[in-house]
Amino acid sequence: MYFNFVKEQSEVAKMKIGFVGAGRVGSTIAFTCLQQLDVEEIALVDIMENLAIGEAMDLAHAAAGLGKYPEIVGGSDYSILEGSDIVVVTAGSARKPGMSRLDLAMKNAGIIKDVARKIMESSPESKILVITNPVDLMTYVMWKESGKSRNEVFGMGNMLDSMRLKRTLHELGVKNINKAWILGEHGDSMFISRTLIDAENVPELEKVLSEVRFVAAEVIKRKGATFYGPAIAAYRMINAVLNNTKEEMPASVILKGEFGFSDVSVGVPAIIGKNGVEKIVEYPLDPQDMENLRNSVKLLKERLKELGY
Ligand code: LAC
Repeated sequence: MYFNFVKEQSEVAKMKIGFVGAGRVGSTIAFTCLQQLDVEEIALVDIMENLAIGEAMDLAHAAAGLGKYPEIVGGSDYSILEGSDIVVVTAGSARKPGMSRLDLAMKNAGIIKDVARKIMESSPESKILVITNPVDLMTYVMWKESGKSRNEVFGMGNMLDSMRLKRTLHELGVKNINKAWILGEHGDSMFISRTLIDAENVPELEKVLSEVRFVAAEVIKRKGATFYGPAIAAYRMINAVLNNTKEEMPASVILKGEFGFSDVSVGVPAIIGKNGVEKIVEYPLDPQDMENLRNSVKLLKERLKELGY
């Protein structure tokens, strides 16, 4: 069923995912979760109401092909988000070729402020997964503007970067990649954690890092956007919340003293579960990792100041 008007007050489904943003990233995440999870309800909100309804309809048809009949609603009214276990936020402008993620900050911060208010009006209990770029800054804005506790708001950035790192290492013949994490800003100052890498015959990482840092721009140049990679990364985090897997993964989280930093959201190892960020894992990072993390935090704090935080 799909609505383009205020959803009737109804029994809240057990496992519900809300989306703010039904564009290519949001709808691909919804499509992925539909296939991988036993979701009972999906709600897609977008300012382009017909897009949200059309995506809801298309997803409902796809689900039937899998023998699944979740309630899938689309519209522009945030009330359809009510009762979501998690709300996935992709709303905002996407990067254009030649733009850095940080270039989007001012414009998207205004959008996220509005989204935060509307989520708190319609589904205040939900965890919030932020995808909108620059994701570290937008996660911080979402946390500040929503007033939620910091464990309930987190961002997807380094999870995707770490997937790209694994692929790059695989193509270089690296075997048994047990852990290969990118940490820090989901942006030009991201870094490979040398402390935490666990794989056989790891090569010199400088070239690998520059490949991972700039590969998204390469994809955007060719196909206009990235969405399959972001969708799988987001699905991994959504699954951790909905199924309380308590999986450890790199996530953009609000720091309050961890690693010696506060009042910033940046990619660090975190355990994700039904409470959102269950724990920030303060591994004793080596001096190089700490220097790189400090650099990301410095850059992000400078931009937060420009945004008025
Ligand atoms: C990317 C976007 C999600 O890295 O920032 O593909």
